[in-house]
Amino acid sequence: MATPDAGTGRRCDTRSPMSLPPAELAARFDLRHLDAAFYDNPFPTLRALREHEPVKRMPDGSVFLTRYADIVAVYKDPKTFSSDKREEFGPKYGDSALFEHHTTSLVFNDPPLHTRVRRLIAGALTPKHIAAMEDGLVRLVDGLLDAMQGRAERGETIDLIESFAGAIPVEIIGNLLGVPHDERGPMRGWSLAILGALEPVLSAELEGRGNAAVRDMLAYLEGLVERRRAAPGDPESDVLTRLIQGDVGEAGTERLLAKELLHNCIFLLNAGHETTTNLIGNGLKCLLDWPQQKALLLAQPELIRTAIEEFLRIESSNQLGNRITTCATEIGGVVLGPRTLVTLCIAAANRDPAQFADPDRLDITRSPNRHVAFGSGIHQCVGMGLGRLEGRVAIGRFLARFPDYRLVGPAQRSQRVRFRGHVSLPCELI
Ligand code: HEM
Repeated sequence: MATPDAGTGRRCDTRSPMSLPPAELAARFDLRHLDAAFYDNPFPTLRALREHEPVKRMPDGSVFLTRYADIVAVYKDPKTFSSDKREEFGPKYGDSALFEHHTTSLVFNDPPLHTRVRRLIAGALTPKHIAAMEDGLVRLVDGLLDAMQGRAERGETIDLIESFAGAIPVEIIGNLLGVPHDERGPMRGWSLAILGALEPVLSAELEGRGNAAVRDMLAYLEGLVERRRAAPGDPESDVLTRLIQGDVGEAGTERLLAKELLHNCIFLLNAGHETTTNLIGNGLKCLLDWPQQKALLLAQPELIRTAIEEFLRIESSNQLGNRITTCATEIGGVVLGPRTLVTLCIAAANRDPAQFADPDRLDITRSPNRHVAFGSGIHQCVGMGLGRLEGRVAIGRFLARFPDYRLVGPAQRSQRVRFRGHVSLPCELI
């Protein structure tokens, strides 16, 4: 397996995290019982699955897909592979705030609710709207860089997640929904708690935190919506005003129900948050692991666009997607019955050698790079233009300011299987 060059320019072999032969590694894989090493480095296991059991039947009857072609085929056929999560989340969450939240979000619904909400959100995230956010984003990033520089000059170690990667998306999404600055404090914690409850195995603690976060966020948003109804913003750019005012459809103006409005605001706040933090954190960590690629980016800053795509591919922020079959079907030569739960492993698809040459190697010039880090088909990420912009501005400007940054403590990964990122990257900024 190719691994970072550790400054030598050579690629070297590392020990497999699990010393089992690949066929046995694939045979034993169970998403609900993962080895601690998997969280650190899932890629040897994902490769073993792709090569030996690309349509892997789990003990619970669901299937786990690892081939790029199979995953894209599922994304492109939403009638056969539904995003409706009521059947899956009923037993998982019971009659709870988490159940109501996730089953009302556009991402976990099929048309027509999905189409109505998506149209409203997409209208405020066009390339024109995103370009208009760039100046504010640059100011935000430069302000964070200034603050970090001041602390670095006083000899402090800087955690790049806490002080940088984690601090950007919450402000950007806060702006999108017009959340007043002094009310943004709890947003990151709520978001982490709600998304944490999407992990394949749900502990009582994760469940309790997730439910409390949905309830707190609903209470907060009810007040915010009331204030916005009284003083609407510009529906051209203010997503919350757009969601409140609705859209003119075939049957006249279509408005979201109160519950739909609130839960989709929560989803929007969450969707653009941890994913983008992970993109920035993973990108900065990749550059430390592959110093020759970092040198190349420093020499040719215009490569930042293809570099962002490569970070998204090789360390995908969101590693798993889910669907359920609506009828008997077949994928990758395997017959699936109706109501089969299907897990799409984005992380595995993005390192499939049938699609990407030398897939375990970071190549910031890679082109074409048709990764599925943003999904594909009717649910493809509606905020991908914004996520990419945040990545470009944050990583590009960070590197220009601190070209010789280096880790001075352990890079701690978040122990999550759905979202891949770090909780801490302690660095010296030079
Ligand atoms: C690097 C950053 C991001 C990544 C990797 C990412 C990833 C994804 C993925 C994989 C999906 C598809 C889910 C599925 O089909 O099951 C998705 C959907 C979505 N994302 Fe993102 N996302 C990112 C940033 C954002 C941002 C910044 C926003 C909002 C401003 C956003 C809003 C959404 C929404 C609303 C959906 C649901 C779309 C639908 O169901 O039609 N995302 N995202």
